[in-house]
Amino acid sequence: MTYKACLFDLDGVLVDTAIYHFQAWRTLGKQFDFELSHEQNEGLKGISRVESLEKILHWAHYQATQEQKERWLKEKNDTYLELISHMNPSEILPGVISFLSQLKEQGYLIALGSASKNARIILEKTGLITWFNAIIDGNLVTKSKPDPEVFLKGAAALHCQASDCIVFEDAQAGIDAAKAGGMKVIGIGSQKVLQGADKVISSFTDLQVSELLHL
Ligand code: BG6
Ligand code: MG
Repeated sequence: MTYKACLFDLDGVLVDTAIYHFQAWRTLGKQFDFELSHEQNEGLKGISRVESLEKILHWAHYQATQEQKERWLKEKNDTYLELISHMNPSEILPGVISFLSQLKEQGYLIALGSASKNARIILEKTGLITWFNAIIDGNLVTKSKPDPEVFLKGAAALHCQASDCIVFEDAQAGIDAAKAGGMKVIGIGSQKVLQGADKVISSFTDLQVSELLHL
């Protein structure tokens, strides 16, 4: 098969901000005596800030008021913004720039498909922003992954069909979203954790653009 476009998730795929989200939620959890585990955090990857807080409160068996929820969402984001404020190009994950350059050289279109409302800040701080033909972030979607909205909007912004696109994702919700949208998907992470991807790699250093033809 030949493909025209690659759609990238951001957090945990292009940059290791997944660790900053984890730290920010752990800091917030102290307010209601909750310690988020690594396993629980895996279930937060790819989903929106609001849905993440709902899941955490459920795990913590904590009934929060609307006012508390709004305050905590802001506090979590303030902690996260502080953690990402020092980001720079050194935090781009291994192999990413080389892979993006190969894609450009070979004429692929490139889009971002991220649930994060902070995506643009991170793309600017790391300099990644210059690689993208389209950016769909958490400000432009109404439905969280595993709904395919973010990737369908990415494909549409590039004037491509779903079948022209390959999605790169580190979250199960994102893999499910890509599949629901009718796209090929490459998981970044562990084969044991990520189910249903067409291929799983541990890092972009393990992948050549020529291999995309064999998906
Ligand atoms: C996703 C992350 O990319 O963005 C989630 O995997 C995060 O962990 C979500 O909750 C929303 O991010 P933000 O930056 O809008 O709080
Ligand atoms: Mg991610």
